[in-house]
Amino acid sequence: MANPLHIVILAAGKGTRMYSKLPKVLHQIAGKSMLEHVIDTAKTLQPETIHVVIGHGKEQVLTALSHQTDIHWVEQTEQKGTGDAVKTVLPFLPQTGKTLVLYGDVPLINTETLQALLQQAHQEVGLLTDILNNPTGYGRILRDVSGSVSAIIEEKDANNEQKRIQEINTGIFVLPNQHLNKWLNAINANNAQSEYYLTDIINLAQQDNVNIHPMPVIASYLAAGVNNKTQLATLERIYQHQQAQQLLQQGVTLLDPQRFDSRGTLTCGQDVTIDVNCIFEGNNQLADDVVIGANCYLKNVQIGQGSVIAPFSHLENCVIGQHNQIGPFARLRPKAVLADDVHIGNFVEVKNSTIGSGSKANHLTYLGDATIGTKTNIGAGTITCNYDGVNKYRTTIGDEVRIGSNTMLVAPVTIGNKVTTGAGSVITKNCEDGKLVIARARQQVIENWVRPEKPKK
Ligand code: UD1
Ligand code: CA
Repeated sequence: MANPLHIVILAAGKGTRMYSKLPKVLHQIAGKSMLEHVIDTAKTLQPETIHVVIGHGKEQVLTALSHQTDIHWVEQTEQKGTGDAVKTVLPFLPQTGKTLVLYGDVPLINTETLQALLQQAHQEVGLLTDILNNPTGYGRILRDVSGSVSAIIEEKDANNEQKRIQEINTGIFVLPNQHLNKWLNAINANNAQSEYYLTDIINLAQQDNVNIHPMPVIASYLAAGVNNKTQLATLERIYQHQQAQQLLQQGVTLLDPQRFDSRGTLTCGQDVTIDVNCIFEGNNQLADDVVIGANCYLKNVQIGQGSVIAPFSHLENCVIGQHNQIGPFARLRPKAVLADDVHIGNFVEVKNSTIGSGSKANHLTYLGDATIGTKTNIGAGTITCNYDGVNKYRTTIGDEVRIGSNTMLVAPVTIGNKVTTGAGSVITKNCEDGKLVIARARQQVIENWVRPEKPKK
């Protein structure tokens, strides 16, 4: 590579205004930490190295992001400013190529913006800027008479006239490595905050006749930082809005894109409809013609063509075949695997069970650790008693079985094909094919029984 790219992500700050035990950069947008958003975007640029500067809550950060590969973590023991933070990485940066500085708390920066900035900066200094109606708190861009950037002045060091400047520094820089050593060592802390400001690099670049290329960001949210929960919530909504728009563009029907949340990846076939207030977590796949009713929660679910999930259903780590009817108020727990044309109704819980095609459990039922054949009907109130307090056992039910209402299936137990169980049975023994099985006390009538009565006053 002619001009190799290195990326430094600053993430050592505490985030005092989040009022949280969690380090700021671990707070999430769409179920993924802000820092991870930045790392994932950084990786799309295919840099030679990525260095993340950590400090506050470093153990938590390392644990939370332990699955991220190809990251060089650098500790900044004391947070002495952005200039000092980049300086901690100096020993690991070569003298050639360029370095892009990103922030762990600026989560929605995207590849296109960074590519454009890198292109503009070429071998010199690139600086991503923005124009804000309310620039309070940001470093202001000062320009000379010719319009060139002459300095960046921090809010706390700015005079009243400078504070009126609306052009601000987003903090995102591209820097030529050949000057980094000299510049970062020349920065001092003679300012209102006694911090080493990375922004002082502007003056140092000018002294070395290196051009500064300011580039305005096309939308403020791309470079917006998060300092508090209000800003976090604002970026969350923007992110969700974008995801919703993408789905709408692909032809998915969202009854209200404002009331849609996806925290992960959601893949949809043709003519999928999603009603309001659904939450999708992890990796969900919906085939053609799937309908998700209002207020459903889906996590890592695969749903086959034409299946309908009625409102208020809770589905996690399960596989649903074609033309199923699930819910309302159904709960499919991990390893529920449903074939085609299965009906699971209200207040039915299914866990670690496979259900054959055409089978139904429409009301008030628990099916755990069960294998159920095809065209079997499970009556209301049926429970697989799968747990003795220590061990779990399987219940196996054949094809075309009719389990009567309120049947207790005490596992391990096997019910043959075409068995019928009487309502209220407690089934403790295996049942042979085609039999009617009743396991309950017989109804008795006690003749001549005298009901006690209170003595009359
Ligand atoms: C910085 C910029 C300011 C810009 C603003 C944009 C400087 C001096 N100022 O100000 O011009 O308008 O960002 O949001 O650069 N960090 C470290 N170690 C440190 C200090 C900071 O890792 O010692 C990290 C923080 O975790 C954070 C980022 O650097 O992710 C920015 O630090 P912060 O203190 O928020 O800088 P600002 O004062 O906002
Ligand atoms: Ca900040």
